[in-house]
Amino acid sequence: MTTPLPRRIPLLDLKAQYQSIKPELMEAVERVFDSQQFILGPDVAQLEKELAEYCGTGFAVGCGSGTDALYLALRALDVGPGDEVLTVPFTFFATAGAITNVGARPVFTDIDPVTFNMDPEQAARALRENPRIKAVMPVHLYGECADMDPILEAARQAGVPVVEDAAQAIGAEYRGRRAGSMGALGCLSFFPTKNLGGAGEGGLITTNDAGLAERLKALRVHGSKVRYYHDEVGTNSRLDSLQAAVLRVKLRHLDEWTRKRQANAELYAQLLGDGGLPIQLPAAPDYATRHVRNQFVIRAAKRDALREFLSARGVGSEVYYPLPLHAQKCFAGLGYAAGSFPASEAASLEVLALPVYAELTGDDVAYVAGSIRAFYAAAG
Ligand SMILES: Cc1ncc(COP(=O)(O)O)c(C=O)c1O
Repeated sequence: MTTPLPRRIPLLDLKAQYQSIKPELMEAVERVFDSQQFILGPDVAQLEKELAEYCGTGFAVGCGSGTDALYLALRALDVGPGDEVLTVPFTFFATAGAITNVGARPVFTDIDPVTFNMDPEQAARALRENPRIKAVMPVHLYGECADMDPILEAARQAGVPVVEDAAQAIGAEYRGRRAGSMGALGCLSFFPTKNLGGAGEGGLITTNDAGLAERLKALRVHGSKVRYYHDEVGTNSRLDSLQAAVLRVKLRHLDEWTRKRQANAELYAQLLGDGGLPIQLPAAPDYATRHVRNQFVIRAAKRDALREFLSARGVGSEVYYPLPLHAQKCFAGLGYAAGSFPASEAASLEVLALPVYAELTGDDVAYVAGSIRAFYAAAG
């Protein structure tokens, strides 16, 4: 009798993706080395053009990271000391970190417990009640757009711009409009685990406003439009040519990878969606016309025990995010008490991201789903 091989299904397998496109990538990398132009350059300009088109915007400006994209976006909108920026506490740290780093104060509003994204009604109330809010920053978490129309309308009424944190959502659509194309500015991240991930750090800002695009291009090179002449103090946040060359190769495959992620998500829904388990599958609101599944996140009873069980069976998973931002030590000074944002706090205790990457096979998904069933069967 043979013992079955132990399986290992990581949360994400970037090596599998790399193997599938290695010759194309190496050719692009070699081209950059041959040129010996490493900062900005033609590959960055070309990527900006391709991504503006992909996101449905007039302009795109590459920069050093998704965090920098958020920082530069706020700088371009003149948000700074004395200002407040409305965002959610259930997101990656960078969203609020960027607000703090421009000298402004993050003001949190809770998420919708079903979609995990900004609750538009609560956001609208905050905007009506707080005139110090100078921008709104919804996050398209896990690859699904926030409910943008009511958020955009509330921002319009308050006379403040919307900056989309689309770091996890390249190509996602809200009623047919792409993430990053709805607000004044949209921010993407090319962190390697993103759906379009680089070989290091990278980010980009999308916009339809030519003036903002120009300002961003200056801000990323120390506020200079003409070399060695500085109209304002910016920073050094340029996208490398190598990153741009790698990203341009990967962009050609992005839609195919997204389709595979979506197929894996559908298979999970088929295998786990019979209502017999104490879990909640990701929501599919009508407005989210294209969910790009950067993460497939369930809400699970006994989440931490489930995670351990899956790990013992070789299945990787992750908690995005275990501590909401209003409860982070560095934001204690903002004065939010425990219980301020019940939906975010509950989500942080219950969410679990499962493997959903493109190279995952149907068999792998079935194994993960079967493991979840086995856990609850044993847990009673
Ligand atoms: C929602 C969100 N915002 C911002 C960022 C920051 O991006 P980066 O890691 O490229 O700085 C990330 C990703 O890490 C993110 O997931």
